[in-house]
Amino acid sequence: MIAESKLQFWNTRAAIGRNAGSNDFILKQLEQQQILAQIPENSRVLDIGCGNGETLIRLATEKACEGTGIDFSPEMLKSAASTARETGCAERTEFREACLPELPQDLEQYDYAVSERCLINLADHNEQQAAFRNIMHCLKPGGRYLMVESFKQGLERSNELRQCLDLEPIDPPWHNCFIDEEIAASWADENFVLEETLPFTSTYHFLSRVIYARLGATAGEELQYDSEINQLALKLPAIGDLGPVRMWTWRRTR
Ligand SMILES: C[S@@+](CC[C@H](N)C(=O)[O-])C[C@H]1O[C@@H](n2cnc3c(N)ncnc32)[C@H](O)[C@@H]1O
Repeated sequence: MIAESKLQFWNTRAAIGRNAGSNDFILKQLEQQQILAQIPENSRVLDIGCGNGETLIRLATEKACEGTGIDFSPEMLKSAASTARETGCAERTEFREACLPELPQDLEQYDYAVSERCLINLADHNEQQAAFRNIMHCLKPGGRYLMVESFKQGLERSNELRQCLDLEPIDPPWHNCFIDEEIAASWADENFVLEETLPFTSTYHFLSRVIYARLGATAGEELQYDSEINQLALKLPAIGDLGPVRMWTWRRTR
């Protein structure tokens, strides 16, 4: 029942267009900056929970990558395939339906896998681990998985600062189970090595969800994703270890 409501939720959001995967378009820009910086030209990429396909399409058009986008929402997949045709990269991208933690059995092996806030849609940590293992098995030996997901502890650290300024804590959305850093760290073994954890949204989360949130509450103003302070945050490097969204880089060793 909950899984069906999640599917309905994401199918409905597909109609939003560019912001289908998140209303927070600055967060999405930060994610894409990181992903595009990490993935070399001509790589084969698997995009897990690809949504409207924007990240895979940017990799295809800007870095000559080719790859596969996976999503369980037929509406998201239609939108992704249509944008791929419009941008002339339909031959280098394919979009396929699958419901995590399962993946299609016939996928080839990839140089890179990416996910942006997809595993957090799964029911619990067991399903997240099952999805993680299936994703890692789709990589070539030496291949990397850029796991851009929301983590529980990063949100808790931001909430501690919000509390200092008399702001209510932010709760994860109803359809999300944020990843627990300690549990996810235990997924590593001799085949799957955790290379790096990067809290790249830390400055943005601090400025948008703590400082701007406080200023907005004091002024009685509704918060806007495109506020000046949020846009300034986009230009700054990441400082500190705040905010739920971070990139964990995994490597398949053999
Ligand atoms: C937060 S959106 C992100 C979409 C895209 N990665 C982006 O950054 O714009 C999460 C995506 O994961 C997909 N998704 C959620 N649960 C899924 C599941 N169990 N299997 C496959 N896809 C799923 C949703 O349909 C949605 O497109």
